[in-house]
Amino acid sequence: MGVTAVRNIQNIALIGFMGTGKSTVGRLVAEQLKFEFLDTDALIEQRSGKKITEIFAQHGEPAFRELEAQIVLEFSQSTHTVISTGGGLPTNPANLKNLKQHSLVICLWAAPEHIYERVREQAHRPLLNDPDPLSKIRNLLSAREQFYKQADVLLNSDLRSAREVAQQVINQFRLVTRPRK
Ligand code: S3P
Repeated sequence: MGVTAVRNIQNIALIGFMGTGKSTVGRLVAEQLKFEFLDTDALIEQRSGKKITEIFAQHGEPAFRELEAQIVLEFSQSTHTVISTGGGLPTNPANLKNLKQHSLVICLWAAPEHIYERVREQAHRPLLNDPDPLSKIRNLLSAREQFYKQADVLLNSDLRSAREVAQQVINQFRLVTRPRK
């Protein structure tokens, strides 16, 4: 194989920080394209019979990251699927590499303040269970930026409705999968 791995884009994978709208947008995209919708966090919870917070508390973050990496490998045969991923999943380079083999990887981006507004009432994210969640968001986002920016497409979800973002995702997917003349 040459420098770039061969890609056979059949799916859409949404990556990005917590609270950027991956699940909401992903569901809309799947509905419109008549694709299956899969969410890595939901799959992990189903398989383990535990909530994400319990997995973090009882087994630690590394155990959670292991489960994420296993789930990513299972997508290798997927087609016509929208995959919404947990916010930390692309920090493992193998995950991004595996997703890129079969998916157009689209990153939803938002400013820390907007993320904070979206997640502040929710308690299901162990990493944001912090006395100063906004600073935590800023720090994590800047540490992860290098990974998120490896997506094929970066879409800003600030100040746009989920429907608008979903339409942009669909447009990008059509651009890369339309038959060449
Ligand atoms: C995480 C994001 C969460 C979930 C877990 C860890 C992260 O998913 O996977 O709490 O490391 O950013 P969402 O991005 O869907 O909130």
